[in-house]
Amino acid sequence: MSDVKTGSEIDWEALTRAASEARDQAYAPYSRFRVGAALQCADGRVFTGVNVENASYGLCLCAERSAVAAAVTAGARDFEALVVIAPGSEATSPCGMCRQVLHEFAPELPIQARGAEGGLLVTSAGELLPHAFRAEDLAERRD
Ligand code: THU
Repeated sequence: MSDVKTGSEIDWEALTRAASEARDQAYAPYSRFRVGAALQCADGRVFTGVNVENASYGLCLCAERSAVAAAVTAGARDFEALVVIAPGSEATSPCGMCRQVLHEFAPELPIQARGAEGGLLVTSAGELLPHAFRAEDLAERRD
């Protein structure tokens, strides 16, 4: 039997609550677009992240990559599910940079992107980033 949990085995409600609570801590004075993310790990731990902006706009860090950094820092790399929640009544789906970072650890990662006032996109890392650049590509094609 596979250790990978299917979307239906995930406590999406709890993960959504965690992402939503985290969102309150977002540092987004420039965009005023606060984002929270919650990453379920295989060992049962949930890591949250928020967007962290900067007066030098290009340095802004997205909530999804904050959550990945928190998990990896704590020794968790086996990701089972992600919820990301952003303002509005439509789902905000992860940016291209976050898609690549999520794909690195969990190409099949089930993802729910939610609007804080409703709206849901049910997807996965693989669906968001088809034909991703992978570690194998590097290993197989070095000069
Ligand atoms: N942002 C995220 O944190 N995650 C997303 O999926 C989309 C965008 C942040 C980056 C920036 O702080 C703000 O939202 C506006 O782009």
